[in-house]
Amino acid sequence: MKKTVNSIRKAKSSGQKIVMLTAYDYPTALILNQAEIDIILVGDTLGMVVLGYETTRDVTITDMIHHTSAVKRGNETCLIVSDLPYQSDKTSKLAVEHANQLVSAGADAVKIEGNKTNIIKAIINADIPVMGHAGLLPQTTETFRVRGRKQREANQILADAISLAKAGCFAVVLECIPSPVAERITGSISIPTIGIGAGASCDGQVLVTHDLIGLFDRFKPSFAKQFTNVKKEILRATESYKFEVQQGTFPDADHSYK
Ligand code: KIV
Repeated sequence: MKKTVNSIRKAKSSGQKIVMLTAYDYPTALILNQAEIDIILVGDTLGMVVLGYETTRDVTITDMIHHTSAVKRGNETCLIVSDLPYQSDKTSKLAVEHANQLVSAGADAVKIEGNKTNIIKAIINADIPVMGHAGLLPQTTETFRVRGRKQREANQILADAISLAKAGCFAVVLECIPSPVAERITGSISIPTIGIGAGASCDGQVLVTHDLIGLFDRFKPSFAKQFTNVKKEILRATESYKFEVQQGTFPDADHSYK
């Protein structure tokens, strides 16, 4: 059964943890769909882990549309959420236009960074569900550090999450905040919280798939648990191929036409 915004909302009251991972291409979407996770995020981390940009700020709406449509072709049952990239939500008009483009490419909802309530309300008024994002905001931050260690900053993140819920977001990502702060927020709002570096009390978890499978090691956040090391396997296969081509043992008879 296809996951919906409503089924994600209900997961909070039923206590079922929400499982979200990123995908940017067709084969990864096929795998996440087969694993029956709840949400595929076409995140703007695309810029760093796939396109080789220095930051997520270089990602364009054209990049996001292109990769959202690839993910859509590989997915049947997960809810697809696509990021509105940096500056694509500069005005309500632009944000609605770009959110519509992402939906046309296959997104079921969009994610937007920060407490931009007017822009969020405009997108929701255009019948597009919105996921919020509070705590560390990679599109605009100058320093990648844990947010909310100081009481004032923690209170501000709580206020942001409350305001995102009031604006009509169906869920909110909490990035890089201490577990007790995430626990307090999760207990204070009626929509699900989905944590990344925010501890176990959140209603769900998200990771960048390239971190989970060990495919990108240029930047390794300490909260990102590596469940396997695909880079090692690709390197091993590449070196074996190189060796066999150089030795003249590939292709052999089994891999040649008679
Ligand atoms: O772009 C992304 O992958 C994200 C996650 C880090 C939540 O926003």
